[in-house]
Amino acid sequence: MSVALPFDPKKSPLKKRHKRADFSCGKKSLDVYLQRHAGQDMKRGLAAVFILEGESEVDIAGFYALSSQSIEAGDLTELSVKGLPVERPIPCTLLGQFAVHEKWKGQGVGAWLLGHVLHEVTAHAEKVGSFALIVDAVDEEARTYWLHCGFIPFPSTQNRLFLPMKTIKKWLDTE
Ligand SMILES: CC(C)(COP(=O)(O)OP(=O)(O)OC[C@H]1O[C@@H](n2cnc3c(N)ncnc32)[C@H](O)[C@@H]1OP(=O)(O)O)[C@@H](O)C(=O)NCCC(=O)NCCS
Repeated sequence: MSVALPFDPKKSPLKKRHKRADFSCGKKSLDVYLQRHAGQDMKRGLAAVFILEGESEVDIAGFYALSSQSIEAGDLTELSVKGLPVERPIPCTLLGQFAVHEKWKGQGVGAWLLGHVLHEVTAHAEKVGSFALIVDAVDEEARTYWLHCGFIPFPSTQNRLFLPMKTIKKWLDTE
């Protein structure tokens, strides 16, 4: 997953300096989330929002938001549920938002950012248990993207997909 980017990649938690109004990824709900809700979510402790800065420290090339999320073992596929307790919630990590600015699309920025997210969530899972990384696809195109990235659909909710931490760790170990 080491992709060379067209700019020097710098990551930062969302800050006031980041020009949110200029961000456009082609999916309105994601733009609106960044512009109107991300700051509040950070303040309230509902999500950790990170920015991949573009050509300057105010420029947003991409962003993502992570939160904790519990699921029921019964929500998962039979194969993945093997060995999991059915009587209590399964702690997971939710990648609630993930987007790249339209001007950088198709240049490996999404792949780079996802690689970064996978490193971050597996490192965090060493300290705070998490069974899987979950994503909610905003539409069919996004769902196709997550399937392309190796995510597995929840049998009960087709737009929700997951990737076991065990699988992510294996991928990272073979990099
Ligand atoms: C989806 C998105 C993050 C991809 O970012 P990107 O920088 O254009 O993607 P990359 O250039 O890094 O491509 C990475 C891989 O994903 C594939 N890909 C990109 N968009 C895809 C799509 N919509 N469907 C399937 N595969 C896709 C690329 O072909 C590439 O495949 P490869 O590694 O086999 O060559 C970006 O287009 C985006 O922000 N879209 C709008 C928001 C969105 O849908 N977010 C995700 C769902 S919540």
